[in-house]
Amino acid sequence: MDLNSTLETLRRALVQTPNNGFLWLQVAELLAQLGRGSEAEEAAREALVHLDEEDARNRARALIAPKDEAPQNVLRLVRGEKKDDSGDAPDAPTRESVRFGDVGGLDEIKEEIRMKIIVPFQRPDLFRKYGKRVGGGVLMYGPPGCGKTLLARATAGECDAFFFNVTIDSILDMYYGESERKLAGIFESARAKVPAILFFDEVEAIGGSRQQMRHSPGKSLVNQLLAEMDGMASNNANVLVIAATNAPWSVDSALRRPGRFDRVLFVPPPDETARFEILRLHLRERPVAKDVDVGELAKKTADFSGADLFDLVERAAEKPLVEAMRGGEPRELRRSDFLDALKKTKPSTKEWFATAKNYATFANTGGLYDDLLDYLKK
Ligand SMILES: Nc1ncnc2c1ncn2[C@@H]1O[C@H](COP(=O)(O)OP(=O)(O)OP(=O)(O)O)[C@@H](O)[C@H]1O
Ligand SMILES: [Mg+2]
Repeated sequence: MDLNSTLETLRRALVQTPNNGFLWLQVAELLAQLGRGSEAEEAAREALVHLDEEDARNRARALIAPKDEAPQNVLRLVRGEKKDDSGDAPDAPTRESVRFGDVGGLDEIKEEIRMKIIVPFQRPDLFRKYGKRVGGGVLMYGPPGCGKTLLARATAGECDAFFFNVTIDSILDMYYGESERKLAGIFESARAKVPAILFFDEVEAIGGSRQQMRHSPGKSLVNQLLAEMDGMASNNANVLVIAATNAPWSVDSALRRPGRFDRVLFVPPPDETARFEILRLHLRERPVAKDVDVGELAKKTADFSGADLFDLVERAAEKPLVEAMRGGEPRELRRSDFLDALKKTKPSTKEWFATAKNYATFANTGGLYDDLLDYLKK
């Protein structure tokens, strides 16, 4: 194997174990052999962060030339070649066609989003006039499958804003410092395409608690996000940041300070009325027989999330679909299809509440979980 392919192999291994100091050291030494001095030095610095063993530390130190200037902010590490900037551009924003009407139930939350997000977003002048602060982000939390992502999209649809869906996969990069650069790039593109909504899905993966990751790259990613959020307050009222998580307890508390994700919304599972609406939404484009009583189904689906309800409908549609594919006469979905499907679908929200209850009871700092506690009392 030549040096370059060895380097490639090591790089791939680093993606799996970015905290492995010995791997970083090997990469550094290889780079030095290849005559790529400054990259070797950066890899060596990273190795020193993770290495405890003195011999290895000395080997790493040997690759670092004494320098007076401060370490570079953005480390472009172990790069095979200079990256083409267009290659890692953030995902293109979308214009959402989803509206609040496509989200079943959640009336209170929609109203809250309307008053606290959409109106200030569209009429910042009005808010300034009365001395109310505009900006800052919104954090939505709740059990999986209950409409957080859908609501974020619908909010963008209602505001007629560009929607940037930021997932951890779209910014995580093994190159030290690259993830931060991508994150900054996403904010920059959003500012260039206003009005824009930046949506951080599963934000705990990006803005996870910094105490839990002392040395890992995630730590500086949180810092980058904090810096961007702070910059936004002065920078642009036309960019709105929404984040969603199933694990608010894993989100770095610094992200919830004023001006950052300081408005927190609990997105509960649908109650019976909401389940009725959600079922109706998912049935609107399917042929349904007269004997199907949506009210009955809504009653029988306590603890189901919106995603579970969608699942139920999909399952109910399977049998008639298969029959039709086998050459049978296409028929409508019947009550019995739903009852069969019900036997196979389990509600998924209960488990989440078991965990959430503990945090809400024992770690309700700053009233973070007040809404959740109110919900649990009901
Ligand atoms: N209130 C709702 N109205 C209509 N459909 C819903 C609703 N909630 C959930 N769904 C259905 O469930 C799917 C999953 O919902 P969504 O992705 O918004 O959940 P989530 O809260 O973001 O879940 P996760 O925490 O797993 O990301 C949606 O695409 C939609 O089909
Ligand atoms: Mg989601």
